[in-house]
Amino acid sequence: MQNRIIHKKAKGKNHSGAVVCGPGNKPVAEDPFLQFTRWFADAGKKGNKEPGAMHLSTCGKNGRPSGRMVLLKNVDSSGFVFFTNYESRKGKQIAENGFVALTFFWPETERQVRIEGKATKVTARESDKYFFSRPLESRMSACISPQSKVISDRETLEKKWQQLMERSDSKGLKRPSGWGGYRVVPSRFEFWQGREHRLHDRYLFRKKRGGWIMEILAP
Ligand SMILES: Cc1cc2nc3c(=O)[nH]c(=O)nc-3n(C[C@H](O)[C@H](O)[C@H](O)COP(=O)(O)O)c2cc1C
Repeated sequence: MQNRIIHKKAKGKNHSGAVVCGPGNKPVAEDPFLQFTRWFADAGKKGNKEPGAMHLSTCGKNGRPSGRMVLLKNVDSSGFVFFTNYESRKGKQIAENGFVALTFFWPETERQVRIEGKATKVTARESDKYFFSRPLESRMSACISPQSKVISDRETLEKKWQQLMERSDSKGLKRPSGWGGYRVVPSRFEFWQGREHRLHDRYLFRKKRGGWIMEILAP
């Protein structure tokens, strides 16, 4: 059956009450977080091994963007959380300019999600909770790796790791204060669904007055 799109405009300017039928006539949720959760789950069900892998774009005060992959560790209506080194290149750029972009691509379902928003550090408690949920070996790597800094060679890094491992108190390691999470609070989501003849679907959600305006963009 042909997919169809129904866009029912809500009263007034605000389209947040819009009802949209997307691929397979499944309604696009009015809440973009719910929509994200559905697509995220679909990617996993279709065999994507790392549906939480996302591209993070940052841009410091020099106006030059940079990008890299990070892993989504938590998502709910308060935002998208990932963990990293606060003194890394991305950490420095976020300190200069908190506005970032996240991009997910799930080839199995031909879907892309783009998110734009502001990143702020999560609480020390939240960072501790995640840090101590990780295997000891990964915690040790976070402790000894000066992420994004130039190092002389790999051997020195491995030696540092080994020395820490051999210390009797290695199991009691604290989370380094320079390592923790960021929460990205979105102000914009775009859901892209690949379709026939390159007539793809694009659903844009923009934050307005505490709600979401949903619009359809040309592919
Ligand atoms: C699939 C994938 C997931 C990654 N996840 C993370 C992550 O969650 N946190 C992190 O700090 N680096 C992660 N990395 C490494 C980053 O891409 C990057 O190399 C590192 O964070 C340093 O980036 P920066 O120098 O721009 O700060 C991941 C790399 C890949 C390929």
